[in-house]
Amino acid sequence: MSADAIIGLQWGDEGKGKIVDLLAREADYVVRYHGGNNAGHTVVLGKKKYFFRLIPSGVFHKNTHVIIGGGVVLDPEVLISEMDILESEGINLKKKLIISPRAHLILPYHKELDIAYEKARGKKKLGTTKRGIGPAYSDKVSYNGIRVYDLSDWKSFEQKFKFQAGVKNKILNAFGVKPININKSLNSLKKQRTRILPFIKDSFEILNDALAKRKKILFEGAHGIMLDLDWSPYPFATASNTVVGGLNTGAGLPPKSLNNVIGVLKAFTSRVGEGPLPTEIYGRLANAIRERGTEYGTTTGRPRRIGWLDLEAVRFSCAINNVNEIVITKLDILSGLIEIKICTGYRLNGKKVRYSECGYKELEKVKPVYKSFPGWIEDISAVRKFSNLPPECKNYLKFIKKFLGVKIKFVSVGAERNANIKIS
Ligand code: GDP
Ligand code: IMO
Ligand code: MG
Repeated sequence: MSADAIIGLQWGDEGKGKIVDLLAREADYVVRYHGGNNAGHTVVLGKKKYFFRLIPSGVFHKNTHVIIGGGVVLDPEVLISEMDILESEGINLKKKLIISPRAHLILPYHKELDIAYEKARGKKKLGTTKRGIGPAYSDKVSYNGIRVYDLSDWKSFEQKFKFQAGVKNKILNAFGVKPININKSLNSLKKQRTRILPFIKDSFEILNDALAKRKKILFEGAHGIMLDLDWSPYPFATASNTVVGGLNTGAGLPPKSLNNVIGVLKAFTSRVGEGPLPTEIYGRLANAIRERGTEYGTTTGRPRRIGWLDLEAVRFSCAINNVNEIVITKLDILSGLIEIKICTGYRLNGKKVRYSECGYKELEKVKPVYKSFPGWIEDISAVRKFSNLPPECKNYLKFIKKFLGVKIKFVSVGAERNANIKIS
C-alpha cells in the first residue's frame, strides 16, 4: 500500500483524469490538493463522459473516498453542480466526499476581478480560465481570503463577505465594471452553504491514520508542471504550486510519506492560454492533431495550441518532482503522421540553454533542437500489447524512456479506462 502522486508533466490536459480513475481502482483515498475549477479532468466510462473540476476523479470506485484538500480554491457553485451530476448517477457522496475547512472560497467578486484584469491587460492578456483562481489565491496570501471554515458561522461569514465585497466593488468600479450585488450573492451563498456543510471535515487525521494503516492514497495533481506559480515562465502561470511539493502544504502529507511520483505525459504538447510554447506547430498539421485529439479546453472550450513533444521541458518536470514512473497518453493520436519530432534541447543565441534557466522572454526566443522520427500509419487504438505496436512506434517510446531515464508504467491509446498497453 502506498501514497502516490499523479501529476501532469507538461502544460496541463495530459490525460490525468483518465489515469487517476484507472489507478484509483484500488485506492482508499483520492485527494485534490491545489488549484480549483480551472482544472478539467475527463473520465470516459463506456458511452459516458464526465468532467471533474473539483471532485477527485476516483469517485466512481465503490470503496474510494475523495478529499478536496486545504490547498484547493473552491467555487461552491461549481462544486454543487458537480455533486448534482454525481448524485444523479446514484453516487452517495455523503459516504465518500470530504472537504477540508482550510480550502479557500472562490467568491463572485473573484470571478469578476479575473475577467476585469484580463480585459484590462488587452493584448497582453494571460489567457486565464476566468474562473477567479488568481484573485482567490491572492486574497489567501494577503489575509483577505474567506475559507470553507468560515461557512460554519453564518453571521461572521456575512460580515467578512460584506467587507471584502465592498472593497472589491471599489476595484471593479475603478475598472469601469459593474459591481457585484452583495445581497443577491449572499442569498445564493446561504443556500450553497447548507448543501456543503455536511461534508466539511479536516482531512489531516484521516490521511495520517490512512498512512499508519498502510492504506492506498492517490494525490491528483491538476494543471501541469509548466504552469507552476514559481517554476513556470511567470506570469504565464497558474496561481498554485503544481510541483509535487504542493501536496505537502496542500494536503498535509509529510514529504517522506510519498512513495511514487507518476508523471502523465502526452505524446505531443498542448497548451491553452497565452505564453511561450517553444515547440508550437501551426497550420494544417497542428489542426489535424487538434481535431484527431479533440484538443479543446475541457473547462473553457478554447482550441488548445499544439506542439511537438518537448523533452527539454519534461526533463525538468521529471527532475524537480523526482518522477519515477511515467504514463504516456494519446499515443494513438500520432498515427498517420509521416514524420514525428521530439525536442531534445534548446539553443539561445547559438548556445545551449536549459528550460529552467529561461524566463518567458528567453523561452519565446529559444530554438528547439529536434530529433526526427519516422511515423507509423497503423491505427493503434485497439493494441493492448507492446509487442503488437508498429516498430516506429516502439522506437518513439524507447527514445522517450531512454532520454528521461524513467520507467514507462503503461501507455494510453484511447480515452476509455481500459485502452492501455502495459509495458513489461
Ligand atoms: P487532464 O486535464 O489531464 O485530465 O486532461 P483532459 O481531460 O483535459 O484532456 C485529455 C483528453 O484526452 C480527454 O478528452 C480524455 O478523455 C482524452 N484522453 C485521455 N487519454 C487518451 C488517450 O490515450 N487517447 C485518446 N485518444 N484520448 C485520450
Ligand atoms: P488541467 O488540470 C490546461 C492555464 C490557463 C491559463 C493559465 C492561468 O485540466 O490540466 P488560471 O485560470 O489558472 O489563472 O489560468 O493556466 N490552465 C490550464 N491549462 N489545463 C489546466 O488544468 C489548466 N489550469 C490552468 O489556460 O493559461
Ligand atoms: Mg484538463
